[in-house]
Amino acid sequence: MQRVDLLIHSAAQLVTCASPGGPKRSAALDDVGEIADGAVAVSDGIIVAVGASGDLRAEYCAATEIDAAGTAVCPGFVDPHTHLVFAGDRTREFERKLQGADYMEILQAGGGILSTMRATRAASLPELVLQARILLYEMSRLGTTTVEIKSGYGLDTQSELKILETIAALAGEPYCEVVPTFLGAHAVPPPFLAGSDDYTRLVIDEMLPAVVQWHRQSRLAAQPFFCDVFCEPGAFDYAQTTAILTAAQAQGMPLKLHADEFVAQGGVDLAVELGATSVDHLDVTPPAACLHLAASPTMAVVLPAVNFHLGSSRFANARALIEAGAAMALATDANPGSAPCLSQPLVMAIACRYQKLRPAEALNAITINAACALGLGDRIGSLEVGKQADLLLLKAPDYRHLAYWFGRNLVAQTIKRGNLV
Ligand code: NIG
Ligand code: FE
Repeated sequence: MQRVDLLIHSAAQLVTCASPGGPKRSAALDDVGEIADGAVAVSDGIIVAVGASGDLRAEYCAATEIDAAGTAVCPGFVDPHTHLVFAGDRTREFERKLQGADYMEILQAGGGILSTMRATRAASLPELVLQARILLYEMSRLGTTTVEIKSGYGLDTQSELKILETIAALAGEPYCEVVPTFLGAHAVPPPFLAGSDDYTRLVIDEMLPAVVQWHRQSRLAAQPFFCDVFCEPGAFDYAQTTAILTAAQAQGMPLKLHADEFVAQGGVDLAVELGATSVDHLDVTPPAACLHLAASPTMAVVLPAVNFHLGSSRFANARALIEAGAAMALATDANPGSAPCLSQPLVMAIACRYQKLRPAEALNAITINAACALGLGDRIGSLEVGKQADLLLLKAPDYRHLAYWFGRNLVAQTIKRGNLV
């Protein structure tokens, strides 16, 4: 008998979401690796065995044993796109949008992202940390064990660094790990004029070197540090996006991109050309660009909570992306303007109903593929030997309940790095 720290056994169903060769695509996306009467053994926070309960119980004894009878066990969820650090709220704007106001017009009139920028600039670091920690904790209650968090509500060097410091302050939370992204190019703040290149120059010449330097000596130095741009008319055009992303890449940063949320500006082809880790939104991506994306290693991150919140039926064509072979992931886009949503299971529920994903595709999209969208597919996102033991016990016997129910939390127990949360 081999001794391990933790043995979870007798799960009605264990889904591994295993994919040793990188993200799941096409038919593989519809396979979650179900094991009936499943078990998983963990030592030092790492998975040492996955398989049938009978086999593992014969081979391992553990300091802590959990009888998971009647429950499904799955990997912890990964949320690869959020804007979790902000102050204030946008409830008034929400009300105006319900009466027909347009998201980008509100931004162009100085509201939207810029109203959150004003509130975030006015907030102190401890205030931001407190609010972000509350949201992060709620996300973890909903099953998320790793979350990407973008800056982008500071929009000057000092305020962007304050947001990154907030993200770093969350690095020690035991229930959820964070991955930082610099999104200084989220909107053009006053006194810069919308469309002018002066702010783009500030991002490249002053902010990028400062944040790269910050990351090297931060508590998040071991995590990847992405650069992202909101490529959309009224935010950053194709040329500005290209300039920022190539400058970031030259500094060694991996890339993400917000593209084709409202208007296609060529951002998807640009992301593919530059070898970005992911390109996100994709609501109006033309068929030819979908095919280029599908044939590339760049992950397609789809954000249906945004369409839901904006009351729009123009969802990304996720089925076409999958059929074309794209490596697709799902994220909440948690933010105060376009997606006040912390729940990856709710995102699954929306994607299944409106984008015709199958529950297995949606689960892989918030686990293994979401991990790949952070460049972390070799460490998290699936239940495989050698991977970090981030997993969930559900209050249901089958993973399909995650997409079937909505507005309900089915997480009974979260385990992060082998520790019960
Ligand atoms: O991904 N579209 C740009 N950025 C965010 C929204 C941010 C906001 O409205 O505050 C998004 O949807
Ligand atoms: Fe976003």
